[in-house]
Order: sequence, then C-alpha cells, then structure tokens
Amino acid sequence: MIEINNITKKYNPNKSNEFTALKELSLTFADGEMTAVIGKSGAGKSTLLHILACIDGYQQGEYKIDGILVKKFSECDLAHIRNEKIGMVMQDFALIEDFTALENVMLPLDFAQKKKSNRREVAINALRSVGMEKYANNYVNKLSGGQKQRVAIARAIVNNPGIILADEPTGALDSKTAAEIMEVFKSLNADGKTIIIVTHDIGIANQCNRVIEISDGVIISDNKNN
Ligand SMILES: Nc1ncnc2c1ncn2[C@@H]1O[C@H](COP(=O)(O)OP(=O)(O)OP(=O)(O)O)[C@@H](O)[C@H]1O
Ligand SMILES: [Mg+2]
Repeated sequence: MIEINNITKKYNPNKSNEFTALKELSLTFADGEMTAVIGKSGAGKSTLLHILACIDGYQQGEYKIDGILVKKFSECDLAHIRNEKIGMVMQDFALIEDFTALENVMLPLDFAQKKKSNRREVAINALRSVGMEKYANNYVNKLSGGQKQRVAIARAIVNNPGIILADEPTGALDSKTAAEIMEVFKSLNADGKTIIIVTHDIGIANQCNRVIEISDGVIISDNKNN
C-alpha cells in the first residue's frame, strides 16, 4: 500500500522563482489497484509520479510504502526501493539506444542488492512477458515506438516490483499500439501489481479501476470505475 499525506512540492524553494507544484496532496493506493492520473499539462502529474518513484523529494508531508516512512530511508535505501519495490516507465522511455533490448532490461539487475546468477534468463522472461523476447538482441535504436515502450516496461518489471508507475506510456503511440500496451498493463495488474498511469487520454483512463484528476497541484476528483 502507498500512502501520501499532505505532500507539498516546491520547485526552486525560497527563490524568487519558487513554484508550488503539489499542494498538501493526500492519497492512498491499495495493493492491486490500477489507477489513472489525469489533468492538464502542468497540473503536477509527473511531479507526483516522481515523488512516488523516490526520484524526487518534497518539502512537506509524508510518504509511506507498506507502512514504512520513505523519508526515513537513507539515500542508499531509496535507491534500493526504487530498484526493487517500484518499477518506473518514463515518458521518454529513458532506454540506452545503442544497447540491445536485453542489455537494457538487464541493467536494473546489475544494481539489485540480491545479485542473481541467472540475470540473462530473468531479463529474457521480462521481455517475454511483454511479447519482446524475439527482439532481445536488437538494438533499441532500431525498434519502433511501441516496441521501445514494451522494452521500457520489461525493464520496469524485471526486479519483480509490486508497484509500477508509468508516465504517459501511450502518449507517443498510435491507437492500436496504445491498446496493446494497455493490455500489457492489465495483465500485470491481473498478476497483482499495483499500477499508476499518468495519461492525457480519457479512453486510457477509463480502462483503469480508478481515475484521479489533478489541477494546479490539487486533486479535483477521485472516482472508481465499475
Ligand atoms: N524542474 C522544475 N523546475 C521548475 N518548475 C518545474 C520543474 N518541473 C516541473 N515544474 C513545474 O511544475 C508544474 C508541474 O509540472 P509537471 O511536470 O508535474 O506537470 P504535468 O502535469 O506532468 O504536465 P504534462 O502533462 O505537460 O507532462 C509545471 O508548472 C512545471 O512548469
Ligand atoms: Mg508530465
């Protein structure tokens, strides 16, 4: 379970260009939930996701994963959480273009605390679960947008995290490929993963169990879909 309480995030705090991107935000995500976060450009969606992914800090409030305060973790443990509890799919994929798909997916395994001897096999399994095992040895710069998105998802799930965060995972894709990527997230969710997807697309949002709308750093609606 993920819990944030009264989180306030400022960019450039105490400077003339200080900007409050999240204002006393509180949210709980139950295990196994599949949630969409929607809102206009600049609303604070990516900021929220980066805080949940432990790749950005905040000025006020608290964040708990499975009841444990994230602020209390040392930097080193944060990296560990980031690597093993949470998988993040970045908006621009953040893949290494001149590595193969397999090399990209193996990277988080190299940083894992429990080193696995069968890293290659684990990475191939992650690629298989997104339908990309055939492309394991292809260079990322030769893959299509939808294929890169699948590799980015494989990399996010390779350490078997319980939580998967994705920033506009279908934003750059045609509608058919977007639908295929949503099937990948739905099947991960059916396997028990907690999923949070930022999207501009209401059609994508409506495929999730819950839709949260953010505007100017505050939640303006939070609805369950049937
Ligand atoms: N590094 C930064 N420094 C200063 N301001 C920032 C920074 N990152 C984001 N902001 C500001 O914080 C606000 C929220 O940004 P954020 O990236 O979270 O929006 P978003 O909802 O993800 O938008 P989009 O849909 O365009 O991706 C915006 O007004 C943005 O300009
Ligand atoms: Mg964004």
